Amino acid sequence: MNVKNKKIKFVVVGAGHIGKRHGVMIQRNEESELMAMVDVFPKEKLNAEDFDVPFFTSIDDLLAAEIPFDVACVCTPNGLHAAQSVQLLDAKKHVVCEKPMGLTKDNCEKVIFKSLQMSKHVFCVMQNRYSPPSEWIKSVIDDGLLGDIFMVQLNCYWNRDERYYKKGSWKGTKDLDGGTLFTQFSHFIDIMYWLFGDIDNIKGRFADFTHQDNTDFEDSGFVSFDFVNGGMGSINYSTSVANQNLESSITIIGKNGSIKIGGQYMNEVEVCNIAGYEMPKLAPTNPGNDYGAYKGSAANHHYIIENVVDTLKGRTTATTNALEGLKVVEIIERIYKVRDEQVNLR
Ligand SMILES: NC(=O)c1ccc[n+]([C@@H]2O[C@H](COP(=O)([O-])OP(=O)(O)OC[C@H]3O[C@@H](n4cnc5c(N)ncnc54)[C@H](O)[C@@H]3O)[C@@H](O)[C@H]2O)c1
Repeated sequence: MNVKNKKIKFVVVGAGHIGKRHGVMIQRNEESELMAMVDVFPKEKLNAEDFDVPFFTSIDDLLAAEIPFDVACVCTPNGLHAAQSVQLLDAKKHVVCEKPMGLTKDNCEKVIFKSLQMSKHVFCVMQNRYSPPSEWIKSVIDDGLLGDIFMVQLNCYWNRDERYYKKGSWKGTKDLDGGTLFTQFSHFIDIMYWLFGDIDNIKGRFADFTHQDNTDFEDSGFVSFDFVNGGMGSINYSTSVANQNLESSITIIGKNGSIKIGGQYMNEVEVCNIAGYEMPKLAPTNPGNDYGAYKGSAANHHYIIENVVDTLKGRTTATTNALEGLKVVEIIERIYKVRDEQVNLR
């Protein structure tokens, strides 16, 4: 059957919070089909009884079962993404990789090499790009409406406390989580890179205010840099905000005007001041993923599955490809190099 007429067959690896979300979105899309799930824990323990598909406890077992599938969504802890993506590409499957694509540039390069070797796609999950304010600001920057960019300030102030970092979880560990910038704020670094390109001359100050007992890394930082394309920027971040998320915002000062997009997850255009330009009315942004006590990034995962289906059917191209996934990891790796050099100096 021609690929254009058939359903795209998916499996989900890692049936936790976000893996189940991928599963639901795959089942909701008329052109895709969920074939199986993989998790080290059994279905009952995962509260995944609603998924009436075979469950496997490893990728090896899934592949040995020879269940037909085209795409695997890798939704396991961060530190496993790159190696599992390589294994699935090696088995001639396309991969959707949750953020971050890996925890080092080297690991991401291995994924890209394998995808090129096997002629398979790697889709990275950066669903905040689909939020109406993100799509709008991308067009404003690409059309040059702000002129030269002078300054960009990214503020990411969230709450992640003991309700989030539970004992025995991968969250907060160096090897499987990797750090606050990877797990909480890589979406915003992706948006910044998508809009303004690469950064250079990175400097930073880092602190651990409230997470000495439940993470292996800092919870806060002030990071400054230059954009390779001109202008300077900063990322100010923390997960030590008490009680609830405060904001994720971007403030852009350009030669022709200024823009601030704020809200809890960069979902509201607060200021648009460009002479002679009238701001269009934007569609409402989907709320953040709700995990009960804490909130995450925009609930836009249906767009990811749509983009995979559309790309494999030749109707479009990947929204976030593996090279962009790698670049975000590489930027965070360079910021953390600055942090680690300071720790070594103490
Ligand atoms: N795009 C987003 O907005 C977004 C939001 C939340 C999480 N994430 C990402 O999704 C990933 C998962 O996060 P989560 O919050 O769902 O975590 P989670 O702990 O709820 O789920 C991870 C699952 O992976 C399983 N797992 C662990 N090792 C495995 C292995 N070797 N093989 C198969 N399964 C294995 C665990 O048992 C668990 O069920 C992370 O990389 C995270 O950064 C992305």
